[in-house]
Amino acid sequence: MSAERILVVDDEELIRWSLVERLRAEGYDVTEAGTGAEAMERARDGVDLVLLDYRLPDTDGVAVLRQIKELDPDVLVILLTAYASVETAVEAMKEGAFHFANKPFDLDDVAFLVSRALETTQLRREVRRLRASQAQPYAVDRIVGQSSTMEMLRTLLGKVASSPASTVLLTGESGTGKDLAAKVLHYNSDRAHKPFMNVTCSALPETLLESELFGHERGAFTDARQLKRGLFESADGGTVFLDEIGEMVPALQAKLLRVLEDRAFKRVGGLQDIKVNVRVIAATNRNLEEEVRAGRFRQDLFYRLNVLPVTLPPLRQHLDDVPALTSFYIDLFNREFRKDVKGASPAALKVLQSYGWPGNIRELRNAVERAMLLATESWLEPSDFLLSPAAAAAHGDAAFRLPPEGVNLEALEQSLVVQALERCGGNQTRAAALLGMNRDQIRYRVEKFGLARPHHS
Ligand SMILES: Nc1ncnc2c1ncn2[C@@H]1O[C@H](COP(=O)(O)OP(=O)(O)OP(=O)(O)O)[C@@H](O)[C@H]1O
Ligand SMILES: [Mg+2]
Repeated sequence: MSAERILVVDDEELIRWSLVERLRAEGYDVTEAGTGAEAMERARDGVDLVLLDYRLPDTDGVAVLRQIKELDPDVLVILLTAYASVETAVEAMKEGAFHFANKPFDLDDVAFLVSRALETTQLRREVRRLRASQAQPYAVDRIVGQSSTMEMLRTLLGKVASSPASTVLLTGESGTGKDLAAKVLHYNSDRAHKPFMNVTCSALPETLLESELFGHERGAFTDARQLKRGLFESADGGTVFLDEIGEMVPALQAKLLRVLEDRAFKRVGGLQDIKVNVRVIAATNRNLEEEVRAGRFRQDLFYRLNVLPVTLPPLRQHLDDVPALTSFYIDLFNREFRKDVKGASPAALKVLQSYGWPGNIRELRNAVERAMLLATESWLEPSDFLLSPAAAAAHGDAAFRLPPEGVNLEALEQSLVVQALERCGGNQTRAAALLGMNRDQIRYRVEKFGLARPHHS
């Protein structure tokens, strides 16, 4: 954190000089002013604390105090005065002064007062920041990471959120933040005060999913005793988030396409068109183009969804964000577990940054959570993290070195996948772990290389 900024306001140069010197020696970032007007100018640049003389050539301290508090109520003001009277003291306290120091003062006393006061501001700011973040848990800043990849992602999400775009496609491996991105999109759009409806397409059998999405009329099928509104109707004005869209069966894909094109649908068993105004955010960790080629996903729906694609990158492609994400989760779990872990040690960060993170940010979050439960020291050490060594080796610097003549990557990949499957007796989940992949990634390669049969006899 950068040094706290202190503003010293006094018209007597010698007093100002002695205060400035002393506070600089304490490590603060100090600026000064000789008049009330100058003080306000400096205060506008942002300060944490003001040492304010009561007697100023152009105005009095209490008036300046009032203006500073208007600018930023969290700024602390310590009033310095040679003319302490009960009335001025009471008045100053009413206006929110933190404390009084009588002139002539002892520099040690002032330095002590300043350090105590600054602890208070920090606390107040922290509480305010927490409150604000609870009021708006899905601000764009909830997407953590300073890499250019994440900067671009935040900018893009911000733009898309406030655009009139009616469909957005989120793609990315499991744990990269698709869910989070969907909420950020909704809560930063002008639909934020309307419903956000979420359904996981793979979680329900086809007929149930259909009535979940579109509702049904009374008597539409045996169990349909009464009319039911679907998600699209309930979400009117808001957002429908269709997670795992790649798993949606073709019949429903057709109905969905119609909603996207005509903004209309019929309830199951219904004749009448129902019009809605919803934004549809679809997410998948599959490669939809592959799915289209394989005939499992409608091409027209893919094109309609793909108008605004947003790709969440795998964590191994922005490892420079690992420190920021780690400290974000340390903060979070410090609050949750009432702990006071200071951070991850440089050695631990090095380990975390050379790991492949097949489970992406979700895996990092879980790793930090587990480490914080195990940690006995105030810094997290490499031994607190239980990372899969195979996945680490696959991405770490001990990994394969490119020979001078180069390699055939495709053939190498195939050979490694075959070896991993052989070693695991054809168990794809375990083979995937050996290669630092998730199940979808290995399944995709098994299909690509035509490896399915020999291992599934
Ligand atoms: N950039 C980020 N900053 C902070 N936390 C993040 C970020 N991206 C993801 N997370 C967190 O990581 C976890 C996993 O993210 P999320 O559930 O959004 O992934 P997903 O892509 O939807 O995964 P799946 O495909 O498995 O559903 C969540 O706890 C989420 O809050
Ligand atoms: Mg998800």
